Amino acid sequence: MGDGISDYTRFIIDLRRHMWMARVEEELRRLIWQIAVMGKYISAKIHESNRKLAGYKNLYGEEQLSLDRSADDILRNQLQYSGFVREYVSEEQDAVVQIGKGAEKYFITADPLDGSSLVDTNLSIGTIIGIHKKSVFTRGRDSIVAALYITYGPLITMVYSAGKGTHEFVLNREGEYVLSQEHIILEERGSIYSPGGLRKDCTENHLKYLEYLEAQGYKLRYSGGFVPDINQVLIKRGGVFTYPALKKSPRGKLRLLFELQPMAFIIEQAGGIATDGKEEILSLKVDNLDQRCPIYIGSRFEVEKAMEFLAANS
Ligand code: F6P
Ligand code: MN
Repeated sequence: MGDGISDYTRFIIDLRRHMWMARVEEELRRLIWQIAVMGKYISAKIHESNRKLAGYKNLYGEEQLSLDRSADDILRNQLQYSGFVREYVSEEQDAVVQIGKGAEKYFITADPLDGSSLVDTNLSIGTIIGIHKKSVFTRGRDSIVAALYITYGPLITMVYSAGKGTHEFVLNREGEYVLSQEHIILEERGSIYSPGGLRKDCTENHLKYLEYLEAQGYKLRYSGGFVPDINQVLIKRGGVFTYPALKKSPRGKLRLLFELQPMAFIIEQAGGIATDGKEEILSLKVDNLDQRCPIYIGSRFEVEKAMEFLAANS
């Protein structure tokens, strides 16, 4: 109650009102809203699958689609009727899906259900969306205008940026996305690190970087789900997530278009940075949908430190 307003009289700001007050362009506002609403349907599917884990069977004994395919169907079907989307590109599809008539303003990228294999462990999973104003085969910075992710955890939260800061909303019991944190800003330097990849596969320079972080007392925070791992860095106001180049996979593991670009946009809007160890993620050109890329993302200090370590002669 630091600002003197009692919790009872605090103005509840829902997602639509927030975007309206922030003067987000109308079609973009509607699109972000529609995608956030789809998070409720995806969440319902996740619950359904959890019932299956608990012995529940589909009444007709039908084969159910895998969760990531169901999430993809939900997004594609709904976006098709939004009237604002020309192309849909998803981690679940081999090619760009033309869903509009050709004059629509926006191009959507989706990782419909990131970390879906974690569902049986009851860890958080998420949906990642990028919204672009032109074809995605370009540098992210030239096309991306907004991004959002939804976390399905103990709470369902939605973090979005339409280029006017990064904001978090929580889905309440009435089914509304209510503003929980506005203009999230990362500290220059944080205290957690979230390292993907096996140590035995890491390059010498990357290992030295990890040793540096450990010697500095950074705490290990890695769940194996990209969305909750990034969310932790954001909500704790700093630190670093990395999935580096590995000896056998020099392009790393994570996908530039579906995973890295939207998160880079959101973290930059929160005052952080995202690079592949050398270049900014949003300055890299997308040549194919499956393009992978190493990543260092989070507080400025840790990401710049990684770049120093990677540039050193080993
Ligand atoms: O989408 C790929 C993904 O599942 C991410 O959610 C996560 O960050 C990463 O892979 C985990 O990889 P690993 O199992 O190698 O730690
Ligand atoms: Mn993923």
